[in-house]
Amino acid sequence: MTLLVAKNLQIQFKTKKGIITAVRDVSFSVESGETLGVVGESGCGKSITNMALMGLLPDNAIVTADTLSFNGVDLLSLNEKGWQDIRGGQMGMIFQDPMNSLNPCYTVEQQINEVLEIHCPEMTKEQRAEKILSLLVDVGIPAPKERLSAYPHELSGGMSQRVMIAMAIACNPKLLIADEPTTALDVTVQQQILELLEKLQNDHGMSVIFVSHDLSVVKDITKKIQVMYAGEIIESGITKTIISNPEHPYTKGLLDSIPSFHDTKDDVLFSIPGLVPDLHSRPKGCQFEGRCFNKKDDCSSSWPTITQKDDRVLRCHYPLK
Ligand SMILES: Nc1ncnc2c1ncn2[C@@H]1O[C@H](COP(=O)(O)OP(=O)(O)OP(=O)(O)O)[C@@H](O)[C@H]1O
Ligand SMILES: [Mg+2]
Repeated sequence: MTLLVAKNLQIQFKTKKGIITAVRDVSFSVESGETLGVVGESGCGKSITNMALMGLLPDNAIVTADTLSFNGVDLLSLNEKGWQDIRGGQMGMIFQDPMNSLNPCYTVEQQINEVLEIHCPEMTKEQRAEKILSLLVDVGIPAPKERLSAYPHELSGGMSQRVMIAMAIACNPKLLIADEPTTALDVTVQQQILELLEKLQNDHGMSVIFVSHDLSVVKDITKKIQVMYAGEIIESGITKTIISNPEHPYTKGLLDSIPSFHDTKDDVLFSIPGLVPDLHSRPKGCQFEGRCFNKKDDCSSSWPTITQKDDRVLRCHYPLK
């Protein structure tokens, strides 16, 4: 079953210098139980796309789409009450910085209890207490009973992230959005959190959107992947196929700049030259043209449309073969 559908999603912001289009013509879907990876450099629109799915964009944002639906609900027509039902209930979200996402004034038990009170009002106090403990066990918190009364400052980064995950999955969401959930953690803890997310997904059968600027992090845990550049999806498809055979020069550049994909010490790491375009003055043609090693004359004059071949979607005039 298709859980989430976005067709021609556009996100604009009203700024002092005028309206900017930060995300444009973005279309994708997420099936039940599937993990979708979203990658791309900083500022390419990964977070705001997900914020739009959760109705969390600031007031200066204008969101439009031909379709933006979740579990059959039209997200664009929701009022604040409708959003509250979906957020934290059917959709959970974990963020990059667990330390700043937890409330410093509440204990672990109080934070998780609040989520359950709001989204599972049918639960009794005793049921909530039981559920909180089982959630802490699920997310691998050692000595969970003792941790109930801990405040965020008493937890390590990895433990805080586990508490965030416990809050996000407390009401068995259909979709979990994980926005760079491991970026702030050290490498061993990163790996543990990735394994935990994979296990929880298998146990609970939820769909996951996993955002990272790092392709090496998403490659093992996602089935589908979409690569974003300057607010557009420039390539998407089956993770394995795209990683073994990227067709967009930008995807190729991202892959060539990952250290772990280079086996020998002699390999020189590649870094994509140039900068992401300024959203106030987008290029007329392909957004990547200024940095592309494979560009031809017409790349700067005409904006490539989306093409689809088998499972792969591309926005490029001259894909690599
Ligand atoms: N409130 C806002 N007003 C104006 N522009 C905004 C606003 N919020 C985000 N943007 C712009 O939208 C673009 C996309 O931002 P977004 O946070 O989605 O990037 P990202 O891909 O998540 O980057 P990162 O990897 O650094 O998290 C950026 O250029 C950003 O400046
Ligand atoms: Mg982000």
